Amino acid sequence: MIKSIAVLGAGQMGSGIAQVCAQAGYQVTVIDISEMQREKALVGITKSLDKLVSKNVLRMEDQQATLSRLAFAKTLPGGDFDLLIEAVTENITLKTKLLAEASQILRDDAIIASNTSSISLTQLAVCTNRPDKVIGMHFMNPVPLMQLVEVILSLTTSDETFAATADVIQAIGKTMVVSQDAPGFIVNRILMPMINEAVFTLYEGIATAKDIDAAMKLGTNQPMGPLALADLIGLDTCLSIMTVLHDGFNDSKYRPCPLLKNYVAAGWLGRKSGRGFYHYDAS
Ligand SMILES: NC(=O)c1ccc[n+]([C@@H]2O[C@H](COP(=O)([O-])OP(=O)(O)OC[C@H]3O[C@@H](n4cnc5c(N)ncnc54)[C@H](O)[C@@H]3O)[C@@H](O)[C@H]2O)c1
Repeated sequence: MIKSIAVLGAGQMGSGIAQVCAQAGYQVTVIDISEMQREKALVGITKSLDKLVSKNVLRMEDQQATLSRLAFAKTLPGGDFDLLIEAVTENITLKTKLLAEASQILRDDAIIASNTSSISLTQLAVCTNRPDKVIGMHFMNPVPLMQLVEVILSLTTSDETFAATADVIQAIGKTMVVSQDAPGFIVNRILMPMINEAVFTLYEGIATAKDIDAAMKLGTNQPMGPLALADLIGLDTCLSIMTVLHDGFNDSKYRPCPLLKNYVAAGWLGRKSGRGFYHYDAS
């Protein structure tokens, strides 16, 4: 039974995952090499819990209990973790390196989950010393608000690993869908080409960012337009996912838009950097 969770990566996803796990009663250690990211994560989680208290969704004593279940570290401590959820930058070289290292440190029976948006779970699993205990847990952004967790089964994931993961998803009050291991899984296979096409629409001068988003919001009943959503996800993450789809399917229909590549090269990564298709307040 899972009691203690390590979350690797304290970015927008890692901090949200840590929050919902701690709220559900798990002991959570959040690991990030960047001190700034660790500090930002604690501030973000505290703010998010404050909001839940002010909306009467969470009691004040539960807020304090949630915070007391959270710890932060620079590197993975040798602690007694039952589950590690990896949420570092979407880069296969980084993820395989970190998961291989983590599998040397974790207890033999610990499960390793990755929050990757698109990378093959089978490729990640075989870099560890326990391919049967590796699984995809793809949370949606922002984690505290979004109901879905997409579970990805690698070729090697065992039934026991799947069952234990499903229990955690139920305990944190989320809804699970199951995908086999194919590029982009379900959500990003469908979502990312739409976002990429919106970037092409901008790139070709067909409409402004504002009108592209208004067209999709008001014309197709989406809660936010594709370019605003890309800014929320992070343009570096969007580009990585398109590259995985392009390489994985060897199909030119998934080629990333040159404008998306240029925005990432310029460091215009969306909300997290203050500028993407729109401008954001740095705070
Ligand atoms: N952004 C989204 O909407 C979204 C949604 C679902 C899944 N994801 C996936 O979640 C993962 C993280 O995305 P994000 O948006 O949180 O990115 P992010 O850029 O906000 O955070 C990534 C974090 O990884 C940390 N990191 C990098 N190298 C590290 C190392 N060696 N050790 C420890 N920490 C390290 C960085 O310091 C940073 O805090 C990616 O795999 C992404 O594809 C993202």
